[in-house]
Amino acid sequence: MHMFKGLQKLRPAGRLLREVDANNLPRHVGIIMDGNGRWAKKRGLPRSAGHRAGAQNLKTITEFAGNMGIRYITAYAFSTENWKRPKEEVDALMQLLLEYLRDKEQLAGKNVTIRVIGDRSALSDEINHEIDVIEDYTKDRDGMVLYLAINYGGRQEIVKAVRELCEQVEAGALAPGDVTEEMLSQRVYTDDVPDVDLIIRPSGELRLSNFLLWQSAYSEFWFSDINWPDFSPRDFTQAILDYQNRNRRFGGV
Ligand code: FPP
Repeated sequence: MHMFKGLQKLRPAGRLLREVDANNLPRHVGIIMDGNGRWAKKRGLPRSAGHRAGAQNLKTITEFAGNMGIRYITAYAFSTENWKRPKEEVDALMQLLLEYLRDKEQLAGKNVTIRVIGDRSALSDEINHEIDVIEDYTKDRDGMVLYLAINYGGRQEIVKAVRELCEQVEAGALAPGDVTEEMLSQRVYTDDVPDVDLIIRPSGELRLSNFLLWQSAYSEFWFSDINWPDFSPRDFTQAILDYQNRNRRFGGV
């Protein structure tokens, strides 16, 4: 049996968990928390109830993954395209974010460092303030790091990085021919994190939806029909096992 921290807390995943190879975990897992609306509809509840259930589940999965030894999770909470949703739903999502950011333990538990990625300029002053507070409050923790992607878009992020490089070129500090992949990697939001190894998308959709475009060049993908609020520690364990059974070649043979 592997020596996972706090094994008793992980019982819901049962026997499956013992098959996980603790030495071959993905370092960075991305999660597209999809299917909240459908989860709510099935139960005759408003969509906002689905988002609330989804937010609660993020805590369950983050704590579970942290105990398993996963270092980084990036969770897609709000995309640059989500503004197109009805105002009522956007407001409900922003309200939920505010509530969770304020209640620091509710978001991810006691030992998780929280960071936010995305274009914060479109977020309210209130939300920006709570982001500053929670990032500072959790910064010295030694557990996993949860990146919340809020008003995040992969293309927008790449454009941001390119603009920064253009400014250097304009200032005469950099020649266009000297631009490297590494320079781009240093200018996306996840500059201090390894590229995402595994992207999990529940709820039956088979697309990336502008999530971590730059960082997912060699990611493995794991899809399932389960709606995010129902996605359990057991499902997470299954995703890790499937990942471990794949042969990642990074373009080699
Ligand atoms: C996609 O499901 C989900 C979102 C657009 C939002 C995800 C946000 C959360 C889970 C809440 C985040 C909040 C915190 C505090 C972390 P969908 O609405 O597209 O579902 P559907 O495809 O079934 O309609």
